[in-house]
Amino acid sequence: MIVDGQDQRNINKASELLKAGELVIFPTETVYGLGADALNIESLEKVFALKARPKWDPLIVHLSDISKLEQFVEAVPDKALKLAEKFWPGPLTLVLRKKKIVPDLVTGGRETVAIRVPRNPVAQSLLRQFGGAIAAPSANRFQQLSPTTALSAFEALGKPNVMVLDGGPCEVGLESTVVMIEEKATKILRPGGISREDIEQITGQSELNLGVAAEAPESSESPGQSSFHYAPRTPLKLVDLTDIKELILRKGNKRLALVAIGPNEHVERLRDRVEIHYLSKGEHDLVTAAANLYETLRIIDTKGFDFIICLRAPESGLGLAINDRMKKAQHGYF
Ligand code: TXA
Ligand code: MG
Repeated sequence: MIVDGQDQRNINKASELLKAGELVIFPTETVYGLGADALNIESLEKVFALKARPKWDPLIVHLSDISKLEQFVEAVPDKALKLAEKFWPGPLTLVLRKKKIVPDLVTGGRETVAIRVPRNPVAQSLLRQFGGAIAAPSANRFQQLSPTTALSAFEALGKPNVMVLDGGPCEVGLESTVVMIEEKATKILRPGGISREDIEQITGQSELNLGVAAEAPESSESPGQSSFHYAPRTPLKLVDLTDIKELILRKGNKRLALVAIGPNEHVERLRDRVEIHYLSKGEHDLVTAAANLYETLRIIDTKGFDFIICLRAPESGLGLAINDRMKKAQHGYF
């Protein structure tokens, strides 16, 4: 059932449910999460079951504030601490060496654990009321689109018998940036709500480490980044503007939806052939575009198109994460 996340009585109830080993769906600034007590194995089992998620794909542990970090991780590298101080609470996840207390089920048996402090006020209230750590993957079935509203979270998980705290639409709309600090390198395992440029302001440099052999994601550094992910049911392709015309011609009389960042004269010329879905009103407004991406894809998915064509965003700022998600959503015959 969906309840008002701003009502403290619902926060209290949700916290009690978590303590009793139940799951709670709650908003974060990135996407809605499916939360469980991070130290309760039975609750964690329920998360994997409801999501139909393989056990090798580890979960992110959510904390109310940075002071709780030392309970769960060994010494924090200097750069990681600087990133945390700069971007927490916010859409940044740090992969750090775990303490024994963190169950293997959270980390997929790894020596590291992914931690983040979200800034969404409902998430903050829940974490403070609960007092402990909440493990939460995005509230969707494995490999499908992440939900950015309470209703789409509820539906994405098949309307489960789980409390959904409604906090309105998510502010960022894309998952957190997952970062791993090594002695010599800062690795971005998943681009997200904090841009690479912002990370590099603190760390000086970074490497993108998104490549995953689709055959062996469990042994990868970023297991959740397998090459197919975040996908609507409708076949989807990510293209450059220069290739769009040819693609449309090839598709004869198929029903096509085109997703683009914002109004643009080149795209407008295709209007008689495709249904255009702009993610923002401005051609360069990547922040608004990111916030609208998943919900736009979800709505298009209900409209019976034969194909979705996504126009590549510029690779800067949030464009990197937008392109990453559209690329991983690609599937189907083209
Ligand atoms: O914005 C977000 O991060 C959302 C909200 C709910 O916080 N959560 C989220 O969780 O996107 P999930 O489970 O959908 O994605 C977690 C990502 C996966 O790519 C996973 O492989 C990676 O984090 N991850 C988790 N633990 C890791 C670890 N120890 N080492 C490397 N990657 C890890
Ligand atoms: Mg996910």
